[in-house]
Amino acid sequence: MDNFTFYSPTFFVFGRDTEKEAGSYVKKFGGTKVLIHYGGGSVVRSGLLDRVKASLDREAIPYLILGGVKPNPRSGLVYEGIDICRKEGVDFVLAVGGGSVIDSSKAIAAGTVYDGDFWDFYNGKYIEEALPVGTILTIAAAGSEGSPDSVITKEEGMFKRGATGNAIRPRFSILNPALTQTLPAFQTAAGITDIMAHLYERYLTNTTEVEVTDRLIEALLLTMIHEGPRVIEDPDHYEARANIMWAGMMAHNNAVGVGRSQDWNSHNIEHELSALYDCAHGAGLAVTMPAVFRYVMNHNVMRFAQVAVRVWGCQMDFAHPEVTALAGIEALRHFLKSIGMPGNFAELGAKEEDIPKLVEVLCRGDGRQGSISGFVTLTEEDCTKIYQMMV
Ligand code: NZQ
Ligand code: ZN
Repeated sequence: MDNFTFYSPTFFVFGRDTEKEAGSYVKKFGGTKVLIHYGGGSVVRSGLLDRVKASLDREAIPYLILGGVKPNPRSGLVYEGIDICRKEGVDFVLAVGGGSVIDSSKAIAAGTVYDGDFWDFYNGKYIEEALPVGTILTIAAAGSEGSPDSVITKEEGMFKRGATGNAIRPRFSILNPALTQTLPAFQTAAGITDIMAHLYERYLTNTTEVEVTDRLIEALLLTMIHEGPRVIEDPDHYEARANIMWAGMMAHNNAVGVGRSQDWNSHNIEHELSALYDCAHGAGLAVTMPAVFRYVMNHNVMRFAQVAVRVWGCQMDFAHPEVTALAGIEALRHFLKSIGMPGNFAELGAKEEDIPKLVEVLCRGDGRQGSISGFVTLTEEDCTKIYQMMV
């Protein structure tokens, strides 16, 4: 196991009706004037926004409201939010929605107290300072409710890039599984896929002797395999949604990723797809992961065989471990298909003729030098082949 530090100070409030306490948690964490940030309207239709406003009113905390965050959130609205926070003296950003809303809120929070262009953070500058952020989560997926990360798409060039810093870890996150019951099945499944990707991207490590985190990741993957189909079949299954929601947080606050190198090449390769085609991040990952895994499998075939045996229940073929490894990747692909995820470029809405453009942005965009690194370093040629495998 490698040396590590781990700092995860978010205060979690979990369970039914907990969103009604939002105002008191804003107060507890020092907010005196709030920007409520939300997405395309699901929180208006469900009545959640009204409940959040009422809870702030009860604490006599003034607020402004900025809606309109799109999935795969854009830089334009971030600039607008930063402007509002500066002009109005906002000192707390409250995200009400999914990963996109939370990430946009984090970008606004960091940008408001920064003299330069907030995009610097998405070009590699570490976020040292930000307004405090609180979240009320409505979809189990991105894990942004417990992570120090934010992913934004820059409209000029459609670069989708991540930023990080402990300053943007939410001060509190309210997780009421019942709020996820209004999700369309496709979004629920995309969220499940994203959570599984966060687990796989940590599982694919070059660090040895990481039994504790291996075992934790396997437990969370098994949970997703058990609970995923239950919630697709019965969207109102509170207990299944509760297990998925907490697994989604644990998959990505890095408790299961400490002390080990991680991959993130599937995410990098997917981010160009959701940037160009505006598809759901999880749906893009469903197409990306099996292709990447097949491509890099021989780098450490026993790692893939291990997850195949321990998580997917495959038989170990000791003479041919690659057969076991492949069976595990196939099991993942079948599972994702069974919950309604796309399996190839056409089902995702992606086009083969765009592959050179995707590879160019992926491997050369924003200062990259012709490759992406992770479990295996992938060159432009590798990435081209991987995209072709998805067709
Ligand atoms: O915008 P509204 O109307 O709220 O609708 C959203 C949106 O259309 C809808 N939705 C959310 N909760 C709902 C609901 N509809 C009905 N009922 C509810 N309860 O679902 C759609 C997707 O929402 P979004 O926030 O985009 O989903 P998700 O949480 O999957 O976030 C995706 C974004 O997170 C980034 C992705 O790249 C993508 O941009 N990621 C962020 C990470 C992080 N910050 O740590 C890590 C991830 O790997 C990921 O890259
Ligand atoms: Zn993700």
